Amino acid sequence: MLRELEPVVESNLNRHLAVAQEWFPHEYVPWSQGRDFDGILDGQAWEPEQSKLSDVARTSLIVNLLTEDNLPSYHHEIATLFSRDGAWGTWVHRWTAEEGRHGIAIRDYLLTTRAVDPVALERARMTHMSAGFANDHPGSVLHSIAYVSFQELATRVSHRNTGRISGDPICDQLLARIAQDENLHMVFYRRLLGAAFELAPNRAMRAVCDVVREFQMPGHGIENFGRKSAQIAMAGVYDPRSHHDEVLQPILKTLRVLDRTDLSGDGELARDELAAFVADLDQAATRFTERRDSIRARAAARQ
Ligand SMILES: [Fe+2]
Ligand SMILES: [Fe+2]
Repeated sequence: MLRELEPVVESNLNRHLAVAQEWFPHEYVPWSQGRDFDGILDGQAWEPEQSKLSDVARTSLIVNLLTEDNLPSYHHEIATLFSRDGAWGTWVHRWTAEEGRHGIAIRDYLLTTRAVDPVALERARMTHMSAGFANDHPGSVLHSIAYVSFQELATRVSHRNTGRISGDPICDQLLARIAQDENLHMVFYRRLLGAAFELAPNRAMRAVCDVVREFQMPGHGIENFGRKSAQIAMAGVYDPRSHHDEVLQPILKTLRVLDRTDLSGDGELARDELAAFVADLDQAATRFTERRDSIRARAAARQ
């Protein structure tokens, strides 16, 4: 599969290099807002009142940053599976270099603006990176291509919406720029997934079905992720409705996954399982949104 996809990787790598625009993280950070911290430089200690962001914006930015921080683990996973040679290797290294900007830029923004507790952030990074990240299907190229297609789009939505609720135009601008990168990454993998469907429709369908059913955000290993992601969902940054409408459906529709007629055996089974799962998720998303609306209405009535 890797060898058969290599020419597709090469042409999409060239396409990516032609459309990706160079950008500089340092331009997005309001350095003039920065001051020394306590400790070695004997500056001012961090206090919660210094943060201009809401509690949920802070949570969401921390989750997004810790997710980006685990890049060494992601690199290891894809370099091991996709290889470090040829067009695959060029892509793996280029992707890693682009992703490296995201953590740099978000951390510089958060520390310069004193948006989060720098000691807690560093401790959370140590804990999270020490645990690492492991692919759910370590030996399967198809599962990995399917996972990263959805995952890149999920991180795009998450960055974009975090910027929107931040209330800080500088933060919004930075996260919109990062989201653009994630979108190009998604396009690269989605095109690869489309080629995989042409080469091996049944196995590609099984991979997509498994990945969609088991989907977890790349940062799911972050400490207290359950509580944090519930808070993020309540704020509408990333919830079952966005997962269904903005992440699953666009890829399934672009690749016409559920309309495929070239399937047989397990591929047909997988398509039906996938269709049933997506329909259930759609209903669950509606129930979630209704429940959130009534919780918000009750909270508004109390005030
Ligand atoms: Fe990223
Ligand atoms: Fe990305």
